Amino acid sequence: MTIQQLISERVQAALAAVGAPDAPATVQPASKPEFGDYQANGVMAAAKQMRVNPRELAQKVVDALDLRRIADRVEIAGPGFINIHLSAEFIAAEAERALGDDHLGVVRQAPQTVVIDYSSPNLAKEMHVGHLRSSIIGDTLTRVLEFLGHTVIRQNHVGDWGTQFGMLTAYLVETHNEGTAANELHDLEEFYRKAKIRFDESEDFANQAREYVVKLQGGDPQVLELWKKFVAVSLEHCQSVYDKLGLKLTPDDVMGESAYNDDLPRVVEDLEAAGVLKEDDGAKCVFLDEFQDADGNPYPFIVQKKDGGYLYATTDLGAIRYRVRNLHGNRLIYVVDARQSLHFSQLFATSRKSGFAPADVRLEHVAFGTMMGQDGKPFKTRSGGTVKLVELLDEAIERANAMVSSKNPELSEADKQRIARAVGIGAVKYADLSKSRMSDYIFNWESMLSFEGNTAPYLQYAYTRVKSVFRKAGDWNHQAKIDVVEPAEKQLAVALAQFEDVLVTVGEGCYPHHLSSYLYQIATLFSRFYEACPILKSEGAVRDSRLRLADWTARTLSTGLGLLGIEVLETM
Ligand code: ARG
Repeated sequence: MTIQQLISERVQAALAAVGAPDAPATVQPASKPEFGDYQANGVMAAAKQMRVNPRELAQKVVDALDLRRIADRVEIAGPGFINIHLSAEFIAAEAERALGDDHLGVVRQAPQTVVIDYSSPNLAKEMHVGHLRSSIIGDTLTRVLEFLGHTVIRQNHVGDWGTQFGMLTAYLVETHNEGTAANELHDLEEFYRKAKIRFDESEDFANQAREYVVKLQGGDPQVLELWKKFVAVSLEHCQSVYDKLGLKLTPDDVMGESAYNDDLPRVVEDLEAAGVLKEDDGAKCVFLDEFQDADGNPYPFIVQKKDGGYLYATTDLGAIRYRVRNLHGNRLIYVVDARQSLHFSQLFATSRKSGFAPADVRLEHVAFGTMMGQDGKPFKTRSGGTVKLVELLDEAIERANAMVSSKNPELSEADKQRIARAVGIGAVKYADLSKSRMSDYIFNWESMLSFEGNTAPYLQYAYTRVKSVFRKAGDWNHQAKIDVVEPAEKQLAVALAQFEDVLVTVGEGCYPHHLSSYLYQIATLFSRFYEACPILKSEGAVRDSRLRLADWTARTLSTGLGLLGIEVLETM
């Protein structure tokens, strides 16, 4: 149980004892140190409902409140806030619990099977910056959910099917005949561009491409072979980006659109049987009352076109059913651009209505905003093209290398490269993960690579500073009791004890920035503690207690950054 849950429970019991069992306790970490460590703010609303004086009610709640061994001071403030000061004894016990456990005391939740769809690029083109956010956010969520004890199944729902593949396959045949295919495939972006030019300029080529689409869908072995070749090259490219980014995605996680192709006729039949389909101008659609235009006409969710073709929606219905039936997901998460919100709302509503996703399966669209350039417009190259992800990542490493080299010129080339990779990739990831995912954010090299402020380099550097203390510490007692006396010690320790609270919040709402803000707070509190409370110059039990607090800090930073997919370094 997290501290917040523990205190909430106790306050809730006290509210029940004074006749307000249904009033929410509203417990949260205190907003300022003078308000203690936690605040319970539920009394005012309860008093209003009961028509009694809030301060008097607060007093009754405090009298009934059992926080023995948890708090040593409970005060009423303002109109009826309850401020709770955790006791040194409780903090010491929490510290022991965290430090004695390789999981930092974070309790495993009742395990669920979480199926998470992320990255999911279209394979026709090379991965570009538009795929960065889904990949990074999704990867962090898988790490946090696994850490909390869940079984996480990754699904890389790549776009590997559809009309574009006819065009690409036709171009593959053409270049193959010319003996240049292997060479051409080196640059998928170019490959796509050239195929498109051929498609637009040559009627024959375009007809060939259309024919290939039909053959592909009909399962023609030769065309399938070519298609597979293209997909394999494209997936290899994706995997190299994942590896460079240090993501947990592997080729085994790929479950592309094509995998559902054979199931699509059945998807439509089953929707028909469930009575949710209507014909509209020859197309088969689901109309849902909750989605209407301004005139009250429901939007169609089209699952089969007039010509019999299936759509993105049909595939997603097949996928949702697979995730429920075959993967036994209790919770399905889709980390996809906010611009697809309507699609997911319709998908989820249709799946409920047709029984593809029973009511006890949680469905979530984890949406995110757009990555913008300095000009406030979607991120592009100087010439206005899409930025290839590989190039962006290489630039990040290069820039970090220049930074590391100027900061620490004596490092060997190999060390510089290793540190530059951790810092550069860390900076790109952290810049994304430290913003609330729903907002658009501006991509800026200078701010993300700065050693100051809420950045990866700042946190990575903070970690090396904590670690450097131990290199100078000599012998010390690793079993010493943590005894918080100074305010700076207490604030740091209380924050460290909130690690589980933060992870539970991230696992629940899927907002990774709560974790990054938390780690930034820890780094800041550590440096305040470091200035206010000498560690190595103090003596005996005080020195040991402070060293343990530093150890707790280091472990929390490295575990937390690890959950964000960011490497820590011993020195930099
Ligand atoms: N391939 C899609 C795109 O690039 C994203 C797929 C997201 N996942 C899904 N199940 N629809 O826009």
